[in-house]
Amino acid sequence: MSSAEEILNEIETIQKEALRAIEGAGSKEELEKLRVSYLGRKARLTFILRSLKDLSPEDRRLVGSRANEVKAKLEELLRSKEEELSKKHAREVIDFSLPGKKFPRGREHPLQKLIEEISYFFVGLGYEVVSGPEAELDYYNFTALNIPPYHPARSMHDTFYLTPETLFELDLSEAELREATRNIALLRTHTSPVQIRTMLRKKPPVFIIAPGKCYRKDIPDATHSPVFHQIEGLAVAEGITFADLKGTLESFLKYLFGDETKVQFRASYFPFTEPSAEVDVSCIICGGRGCRVCKDSGWLEVLGAGMVHPAVLEEVGYDSEKYTGFAFGMGVERLAMLKYRIPDIRLFLENNIQFLEQF
Ligand code: FA5
Repeated sequence: MSSAEEILNEIETIQKEALRAIEGAGSKEELEKLRVSYLGRKARLTFILRSLKDLSPEDRRLVGSRANEVKAKLEELLRSKEEELSKKHAREVIDFSLPGKKFPRGREHPLQKLIEEISYFFVGLGYEVVSGPEAELDYYNFTALNIPPYHPARSMHDTFYLTPETLFELDLSEAELREATRNIALLRTHTSPVQIRTMLRKKPPVFIIAPGKCYRKDIPDATHSPVFHQIEGLAVAEGITFADLKGTLESFLKYLFGDETKVQFRASYFPFTEPSAEVDVSCIICGGRGCRVCKDSGWLEVLGAGMVHPAVLEEVGYDSEKYTGFAFGMGVERLAMLKYRIPDIRLFLENNIQFLEQF
């Protein structure tokens, strides 16, 4: 067995050697190896500490205190060296002088942008923006809008039904059929059912717009898509007249297409408005002189509108003697095509980044 003096000398040698090795370590892996060889279970210093019991009490005190001192010193040095290496590593990995990486930024879809722009105008007039379900009941999409089963206007909307249409084939009375339409589900063909839903939950006055998706079994071409957006407008209060409708839509279309835009109302037909009109703006391409886009007419059709039919007001429990109102509906894609001069509606659905980045 070694004498206490020999052990103390050995401790000093271990310390000297360990300090030099730790100081010179170049990586965390190297440092970890040094920790194991100088302080690990099989390290000489650990062995010395474990064998203290074999020494005389006086030697045990001498050797023990020195060995523990050295152990603490090495532990401290290992810790500070590790910190130093971490900082050095961070400096090497992050080169602060490099230019930052740019992440591609998303942007609003042009249709959403236009919906926002249109909503902004109507909100400024005091209208509320509301929404309704895209999966709708036949009753709200048709029947309550004065389009009962077998009404010829139903064929104008080629409908995606979600429940079988077999009810239409049953031998039901007109009243029974009307009731049955509350159980037939479909994808809404226009945003007009939101008129009904709003009036059923609110008393007049009502001033709302309702933007949203609509679906029709239309064959896709340059101006038709099976899924498209509309914005519905509805104003019901005492004393509303056709002049209010004209004034509102005229200022709206000038806001959207510019002050020089002319607006014309043509008589038309919708089952839920009476009288009904289709609204044209002077061609934004040729200014009304006549071109290919307006088919030489000088006018472009932009929306449908009219005074709310008394049958619709009565259906939702409004007194049609007391209240009158107007409604309008516009196709957002068609407006966007005109405003941004886009020749094909399908571009809005294709997720072509080059196209979308222009807006
Ligand atoms: C309607 O849907 C009526 N609900 C509008 C209305 C509301 C009238 C309130 C009166 C009062 P229409 O079927 O014409 O009307 O459609 C309105 C607009 O939706 C069209 O002018 C067009 O811009 C757009 N639209 C219709 N079908 C498609 C389609 N397949 N693709 C793209 N846009 C379409």
